[in-house]
Amino acid sequence: MSLKVQMVFGTRPEAIKMAPLARVLKHWPGIDLFVCSTGQHREMLQQVLDAFELQVDEDLDVMTQGQTLNGLSQQLLQRLDESYARVLPDIVLVHGDTTTSFIAALAAYHRQIAIGHVEAGLRTGNLRSPWPEEGNRTLTGVLADLHFAPIGKARDDLIREGRCADQIEVTGNTVIDALLWMRDHLQQTQWHPAADSPLAKLDPQQRLVLITGHRRENFGKGFEHICQALAELAGRYPDVQFVYPVHLDPQVQGPVRALLGGYGNIHLIAPQDYQHFVWLMDRAYLILTDSGGVQEEAPALGKPLLVLREVTERPSVLEGGTVLLVGTDPARIVEQTTRLLDDAQAYQSMSRVFSPYGDGHASEKIAQRLTRWAAERHGK
Ligand code: UD1
Ligand code: UDP
Repeated sequence: MSLKVQMVFGTRPEAIKMAPLARVLKHWPGIDLFVCSTGQHREMLQQVLDAFELQVDEDLDVMTQGQTLNGLSQQLLQRLDESYARVLPDIVLVHGDTTTSFIAALAAYHRQIAIGHVEAGLRTGNLRSPWPEEGNRTLTGVLADLHFAPIGKARDDLIREGRCADQIEVTGNTVIDALLWMRDHLQQTQWHPAADSPLAKLDPQQRLVLITGHRRENFGKGFEHICQALAELAGRYPDVQFVYPVHLDPQVQGPVRALLGGYGNIHLIAPQDYQHFVWLMDRAYLILTDSGGVQEEAPALGKPLLVLREVTERPSVLEGGTVLLVGTDPARIVEQTTRLLDDAQAYQSMSRVFSPYGDGHASEKIAQRLTRWAAERHGK
């Protein structure tokens, strides 16, 4: 009898990181895969489904504009409960640290369905940052039966929290599977942005600084400070292009467009699909971000990265010397960006490929562990 696996995701990063795993599980012997999108994100999720040609079997369509964490959780709990009752999975696979991940795990726990947690064990040790992701990830870890840890440190942290070593598999992160697959695909197809894309208008001769930012704990002052720093940098470097695909959250769109809208060399563009975003990362001179996934992608592409956060759940990327935590203090952001734009030696020392979080084969390792888990369960 095959193992019925229900994969659940709802946001852009979850879908990017589950897409390579879905590809593998779809054809894996002994596994019957059901793909469920909660629709926590809408347009930004659809971009990923299109980029990877990933079909979902069910869309719970929960997103509302300006959704609150509790409102979202309530919708998710109800609709996932109904979904599990219809699908009757043997195991639910959730990813990472979003509200979808935690509530999907909680709903499965309530129905005594086993839970596999992909990208398990990343920790800052600070429940307020990233918020609410540190809490979501930790709580999901408490409920999970199988933990797919991207790196040895994540396994060690899970064991320290009381999880059993034999329930943890170190697999690498599937984001590197997704990234390498997309980069190769772009190279093989000699892909270029379409003529009507804002990326086609960028000057290939000018340096490009790529920016993303959307973290809840940065709302308010944090975003104002980041924008203040970008405005100052844009004034100092008129021959550098600052490209910022702005997250659709009104709490991000509002301050970013109000504070950065009038600068000729700051390009505020819509969230990009994964093809365009990988192309942008590859083309970037350096990257500034508060994103989780980009912290793994940028060093894997050899791009210097300044992280707009005080703490990271991915401290291993700091060991390569290509990633620096700068927080949201405008003076520090300006200082470190200036250093990389002006000092060729400092720039060289930070532009090396470093990928401690994966080799591009995490999905197969997860599938293998699921097969072993099914056999162990059958044997009991
Ligand atoms: C969520 C995750 C965060 C993850 C991020 C990735 C939680 C609590 N947060 O944060 O961990 O890093 O996704 O981007 O799970 N919106 C749209 N269209 C979209 C997507 C979002 O309009 O396609 C707008 C809506 O107004 C929505 C708002 O953005 O209400 C916030 O979305 P939400 O998923 O709650 O929070 P994110 O900040 O995206
Ligand atoms: N990304 C994308 N388009 C964009 C910005 C980011 O495809 O315009 C990708 C990026 O490569 C990474 C993921 O989205 O894989 C990160 O998503 P996000 O920053 O929204 O969430 P986080 O990683 O912080 O949870």
